[in-house]
Amino acid sequence: MQDLSVFDHLGGQLRRLCDVVGMDPSTPVELLSELLGEHGRRSMQEPPAWPSDVADDHTPVEFSIAYNESEPPALRILAEAFGSTPGVRANALATYEFLRRQSERHGLATSRLEAIRDLFEADDPQGDFVLWLSLVFRTGRAPEFKVYFNPELRGPAGAADVVRRALDRLGLGPAYERMLSQAIRPAELGRRDRLTFFALDLHDGPQARVKLYISHHDARAEDVARAAAVVPGVDPELVAAFCAEAGRAERFSGRPLVGSYTITQGADRPNGYSVYVPIRSYVTDDREARERVLPLLERYRFDPALLDEAIAAVTSRPLDGDAGLIAHVSLRLGPPRPGMTVYLSSEAYRGASLVH
Ligand code: TRP
Repeated sequence: MQDLSVFDHLGGQLRRLCDVVGMDPSTPVELLSELLGEHGRRSMQEPPAWPSDVADDHTPVEFSIAYNESEPPALRILAEAFGSTPGVRANALATYEFLRRQSERHGLATSRLEAIRDLFEADDPQGDFVLWLSLVFRTGRAPEFKVYFNPELRGPAGAADVVRRALDRLGLGPAYERMLSQAIRPAELGRRDRLTFFALDLHDGPQARVKLYISHHDARAEDVARAAAVVPGVDPELVAAFCAEAGRAERFSGRPLVGSYTITQGADRPNGYSVYVPIRSYVTDDREARERVLPLLERYRFDPALLDEAIAAVTSRPLDGDAGLIAHVSLRLGPPRPGMTVYLSSEAYRGASLVH
């Protein structure tokens, strides 16, 4: 077997994905290379430098194709940057450093990030990460950047307070009660309903968002539908139907269903909702996952052929026999961009994880 580096593998996948969505790969590949830094040069045969939770096999990168109702699909990368000696804090610092460099080149809007940054810092943070980021590539546009903080850095019980303070500082205090009053099953905050990510878009456009993600462990589709109902204009029936069809489970007792509230710039309450079904946990293999996702894409009038092309861009392995390539599938309702997203694992370390 050829001794590929992590960057060879991920960069090849990214280049092919850019082809699929008709984008010039040069900026995406350059950003990926910078993001991976020296760790990108490691051989894929070596174990990962840090067991990132971005993907099940610890690859610090996950791809996604975001289908939009009113514009061409976007290509996205969720990633964890690594410090030279990786660790949750070192990785967060590496992310800040990466963003500082990109700020100079791409003019990121970081004032909201600066306003809340200290709330998401601790000497001894709990959990698997402090800060992740995503890169979003849209045809004909400059790359966009988004950060994800871990509200549970002081433990699950402290997360609500961290989120409330962050929203307060962003002038969104009232939105908090609205989101959490109905989103959470009574008595489950910090237990089966967990505040998992607090996300910010790093641009200043009218569509810049704050997003709050809640993981609903051991939930039913109707629990998530109730959370979605908080948002005016979002049809909870669509959310329930999407979970049922993608997950085919009465109770989602494997990996949790995740919901997110979107508050776009200028709004004082959530105006969008997305649900993420960790489909890999509810199928026998990726063949089955694909067969469930295709009709959903068709229902929402998205091109199913694009999914097959994207799958072919990341893997040549047979889809049957193993699940995990299609990690999540999500439905986005409300502004700024309704649509569906399919998350594709790189599986850079899949071989390694199969050994255990
Ligand atoms: N791997 C983690 C998980 O599955 C984090 C994650 C990656 C995630 N992509 C995601 C969570 C998409 C929700 C939606 O939980």
